[in-house]
Formats: sequence, structure tokens, C-alpha cells
Amino acid sequence: EPKKLWGGRFTGKTDPLMEKFNESLPFDKRMWAEDIRGSQAYAKALAKCGILTQQEASTLVEGLSKIHTEWLEGTFIIKKGDEDIHTANERRLTELVGTVGGKLHTGRSRNDQVATDTRLWLYGQLVIIREALQELIDVACDRSAAEVDVLMPGFTHLQPAMTVRWSHWVMCHTSAWQRDDMRLRDLMPRVATLPLGSGAIAGNPFLVDRQFLAKELGMIGGVCPNSMDAVSDRDFVLEFAFFSSVLMVHLSRWAEDLIIYSSGQFGFVQCSDAYATGSSLMPQKKNPDALELIRGKAGRVQGSMAGLLAVVKGTPTTYNKDFQECWEMMYDTVDTVYDCIRIATGVLSTIKIRQDRMLAGLSADMLATDLAEYLVRKGLPFRETHHISGAAVKMAEDRGCKLSDLTVTDLKTIHPLFGEDVTQVWDFNRSAEMRDTEGGASKRSVLEQVDKMRSYLVSE
Ligand code: ARG
Repeated sequence: EPKKLWGGRFTGKTDPLMEKFNESLPFDKRMWAEDIRGSQAYAKALAKCGILTQQEASTLVEGLSKIHTEWLEGTFIIKKGDEDIHTANERRLTELVGTVGGKLHTGRSRNDQVATDTRLWLYGQLVIIREALQELIDVACDRSAAEVDVLMPGFTHLQPAMTVRWSHWVMCHTSAWQRDDMRLRDLMPRVATLPLGSGAIAGNPFLVDRQFLAKELGMIGGVCPNSMDAVSDRDFVLEFAFFSSVLMVHLSRWAEDLIIYSSGQFGFVQCSDAYATGSSLMPQKKNPDALELIRGKAGRVQGSMAGLLAVVKGTPTTYNKDFQECWEMMYDTVDTVYDCIRIATGVLSTIKIRQDRMLAGLSADMLATDLAEYLVRKGLPFRETHHISGAAVKMAEDRGCKLSDLTVTDLKTIHPLFGEDVTQVWDFNRSAEMRDTEGGASKRSVLEQVDKMRSYLVSE
């Protein structure tokens, strides 16, 4: 029976079920490298404040490097009693370097250690996630610039509304992803803030240099300002979960559009074979599984966010073992979000668009607003022109013809201000081009949106 790190005051044995219930190594071994990095920095800090000799500190740092190699090469052997990544690494260190290994934890607690390791690990993942997100935005910009001439029906309430551009739709989602990227940039320094040197709750009695530790560990957010808060705070995980949930909502809505657009009835887009699957029964089927999975996984990420909030909510100030329940949800969210971004990038860069089907989706009634605006330019108040155009829509409906099939004579019976030039209204491209304000559907405006998005990427 191996001696427990904390076993001094214990005489009784741990129930084997409790042993399993308590352990976090099966999942927190994912941050083995950060646990080692944190310990190496801490050994140096202990030497700086005179608790370790230079020689001892070097012994610890080298021993920890050996453990690093073992994890890397898959030769690290987990032993009975290795409760979490911190105890596992410390147990191994003492095996490798002898009793001096027992000096490493001086003034440190697993409370400041676990918070440090997790922040380091998550920060590293956020850098990777951000790169992936920016690549998605980049791919979206490329497509938008290349396909800006493709017109498409835009929908509100999923009813045909106005003529837009395919690229306008792409940039719509890209704008949301940009805000996600900004949110991520904003929260990163709050993740990379240093708890180490807070001890279990009250601070460090050997006066380790926390500024040195923060620099050594690349904590761009500096040091946690209060030792009680440092071991108590899990909102760096909550913020990440919120960022992830919003990003997943955005990816899910994007996916939902494409699922609809790829249906037989719409046929605006066709997923590439790389991101679709077939039916075991119906040979004709090509299902947008990648997109459906993104939509489904959004629910999973939201579930984790709710779970994380609930875990932290009722805990009294400073460390509680409840917090250990955060890690699996955090790991799962990191993996899910990263995979979804990569899959979305793959889908977006390979999906085929059917320009003919998009054009076929444009119906003359989508120009009813343009018809009203025609009369606005003749001086009528919009509220009136809205009714007049509505009457024209009704006339066409009653006759079973298209709005654009109404003749000037027909229209004149509704209002005398309709003239020969009204035929110019029956032009979908013109309708999009008229909306030439910042953010609008005109070609110039959409290209400007792409340009601004590209400048944003360059500046970040
Ligand atoms: N495995 C623990 C966690 O993830 C490490 C911290 C344990 N600290 C303690 N005081 N029991 O939260």
C-alpha cells in the first residue's frame, strides 16, 4: 500500500470505491506537460528565495525533464496511489532524484498548483483554437471575394425576403465569427493569470517571487491579485465555456442554413463527398452529416456550460473538491469546439454552389419593396407606397401571374404615379445594387466587408 501524499494524520484505509471516485488522473493527465512546467518554474523560484540551493533546484528541474521525456515517449508508469497528475509527477520525481524531491512542494498547495496547470493548459489550447477560427474566417473571405457576383434569395422567417448575394450570406456568418474571435482575444489574458504562490489559501510564507513565476510561465495576464480568489476562481473556465457556447450557436445556425440550402427543395448548395454520408437504404441520399453534427454538438457544449456554472455556483469561498468536476467538461469543450471549427472550415472550402438554383429561388414578389421604393422616389410617403405595392402584389396574386407581369397600365389603375420607367424595378441585381450602404448587399459593399475583415485578420 503506497503512502499517500497527505496520509500523515490518517490511520484508516480508503474505500477502494472512494479511491476511484476521488481520482482525477484518468483525465487530468492531459496536462502533464503544464504540471511539469509549473513545477520547474516553482523550483527556480524556491532557489531564488533561498529555500533550495542552486544545485537542488537543478536536480529538480532535470528530474522533471526526465519525467517529461517519459510522458512524451509513453513510458511513464502510473502507480497505485497516483491520485491526480500532481501526485503522480511528484511521486515519480522523488523516485528519480531521492529525498530532495520532497522539497519541491514547499509553500505550494495542490490548490494553487491545479489552478496554475489548468490555466497554462487552457491558454495553450486557446492559442490553437484562435488560429483555427481565423483560418475559418480567412476561407470565408476568399470564397466571398471569388463568388461575389452570385445572387441569392435572402430570407426572414424563412420566407423569401430580398435579393442578396451568396457572399453577403457568407460574410453575415463571418461577422459573427469575428466577434467570437474578439471575445476569445479578450478572455485570453484572464485565463493566463498566475495563481502560483497563493498556497492553499493564504499566500506563500517563503516569499516566492510571483512576478518571476508569471514571466517564467508566460502568464500574459500577470498574477492573480488575491490568494483566496486565486484558488477559488474558476471563472476562467466559465468564460471559455461561454465563448464556446456562443461560437457553437453561430456555427450551428450557419450549419442549419446550409442544411436547408442543401435540401432537394432548395438545392442552392451541395456538400462535397468529404463531408457527407449516404443512406444504408436509400441509394439516392447524400446527407449533410458534418453540418448536423455541428448543430448537435452545439447542444453538448451548451450543456457543459450549464454544468460548469452549476458546479461552481454553490461552493463556499476558496478551494472545494467540486472543482475537479470542471475538468472533463473543459477538456470536452476544447476538443468539440476545435473539431467543429476544423470541420466547418473543410465544409466551407469545399461546398459547391448552384447559381442556377439560387437564381430560380428569386421570385418577383421579392421586388415588392423595390416597387414601393420606386414611388418613394416619386415623392410619396413610404407608408402609402407600402400599401400601393401591397395592392399590386394582391392584383398579381388574384390573376395568378407574377408581380413583374403586371403592365404599366395595370399599375396605373392602382396609382397614377407609376410610369414607363417602372420596368427597371424588375431586376434582382439592381435590387441588390441599390443597397450600397456600408454592410449592404451591393457588390461594392460586400467586397468592402471582405476587405475590412481581411484587414482585421492582418492586424490581429
Ligand atoms: N485533482 C484536484 C483538482 O483537480 C487537485 C487539487 C486537489 N486539492 C485538494 N486540496 N484536494 O481539483
